Amino acid sequence: MSNTNSLSVVILAAGQGTRMKSTTPKVLHKISGKSMLFHAIDAAQEISNDITVVLYHQAERIQKEIESHYENIHFHMQDATQFPGTGGAMKGVKTQNEQTLILNGDMPLITKDSLLALTSGNADINMSVIQLDDPSGYGRVIIDEAQVKEIVEQKDCNEAQLLTKTVNAGIYSVNTALLERYIPQLSNDNAQAEYYLTDIIKMAVDEGKVVNPIYVQEEEFKGVNSKLDLAAAEEIMQKRIRTEWMKNGVTMRLPETIYIDCRARFEGECILENGVSIQGASVIKDSHIKANSVVEESRLENSDVGPMGRVRPNSVLVDTHIGNFVEVKKSTLSGVKAGHLAYIGDASIDEGSNIGAGVITCNYDGKNKYKTVIGKNVFVGSDTQLVAPVTIADDVLIAAGSTINKDVAQGELAISRAPMKTIKNFFYKFFGDK
Ligand code: UD1
Ligand code: MG
Repeated sequence: MSNTNSLSVVILAAGQGTRMKSTTPKVLHKISGKSMLFHAIDAAQEISNDITVVLYHQAERIQKEIESHYENIHFHMQDATQFPGTGGAMKGVKTQNEQTLILNGDMPLITKDSLLALTSGNADINMSVIQLDDPSGYGRVIIDEAQVKEIVEQKDCNEAQLLTKTVNAGIYSVNTALLERYIPQLSNDNAQAEYYLTDIIKMAVDEGKVVNPIYVQEEEFKGVNSKLDLAAAEEIMQKRIRTEWMKNGVTMRLPETIYIDCRARFEGECILENGVSIQGASVIKDSHIKANSVVEESRLENSDVGPMGRVRPNSVLVDTHIGNFVEVKKSTLSGVKAGHLAYIGDASIDEGSNIGAGVITCNYDGKNKYKTVIGKNVFVGSDTQLVAPVTIADDVLIAAGSTINKDVAQGELAISRAPMKTIKNFFYKFFGDK
């Protein structure tokens, strides 16, 4: 079995990803909040300290994205005009360890355990194979007496080979010295005029080397080539994430309707009702998120949200109740009740305060954002507008329908209303007698 010092990993991510029909590079499309390539890098980092990513199409953008999240990743630029294809991608790649594991950047579902299984044993090459009912699109693996003989790409298959249902899943673990000897010998004499990495298999077999097929689960080795594949991979990943959290004690009502980012964390006892979406690196502790609510990149503790509540990024809710149609953004609420229909943005609100229905923090003047600060035990009457920047001290009562554009001191009542008047019998004058 390998340890991180005997194994190098090369991730191929230079392809254009034409089938995605997108200006975003294929490997930067996200699954459960994290780009496909980062899922692959994370799995690779668990088994190796020498990781190289091969880039070409939109290389600068992808490299920048990787460097903003990871240190110690090596990059290799493929000369894809002269040497297109997965074999071309490996030309000039130098790895530090005895064994090199090569994987595609479009496989977000692989796990550390499967990668380790592929690096075990003493074969010169281990390669991943899957049995598929519909093998179309994949390279066919020709196996004879439990030994791999060669991989034939679909476009190069004869009729008999096309019927083969054993296909190349696209991950290989190769003795590094062999790999370095074979790559320069690859040719592009095939239907796509590309340099195929898969041709190293036949080279090894012809030299009498041992090539071991490792049978793997289709689910983990699905390559994502289109938006359809992306959606299918997302479903699998979501199921894994939900299963893991339910095992850890999170209650979910109708789990298939719940979306959870792979970076989200739950602590204590949490309940998620149907249609809930937990996004970003949210941390949720001992809280109840009711039906169809959205929590984005926020921290909740001993609180409840919804149904149909929305907590936007950088909010912190502690001991707080957020009801239906309440939107909170970049605000800190501690011991607060906001039961219905409100917008709370760039605010901090302290213990015992109640936010009535229809309350709005007017945090934006068209140019800049401003803060609303509300102290303890403040009763904000319904339909109040708090024009920020504004500070409300402790123990304040704000009358319903007020526009608050000046600070209010401790213990005061604030009221701003046009005086109400009534006109006798106006109804009958206007509509006539009935
Ligand atoms: C490849 C395999 C095929 C296998 C399938 C599994 C070859 C020749 N074929 O086909 O046998 O069944 O994966 O998913 O290897 N890439 C580069 N540079 C290039 C071309 C591709 O880095 O010039 C990268 C892509 O970014 C991608 C990976 O290599 O991450 C695979 O490329 P893709 O075009 O998806 O290969 P497949 O046609 O799927
Ligand atoms: Mg592919």
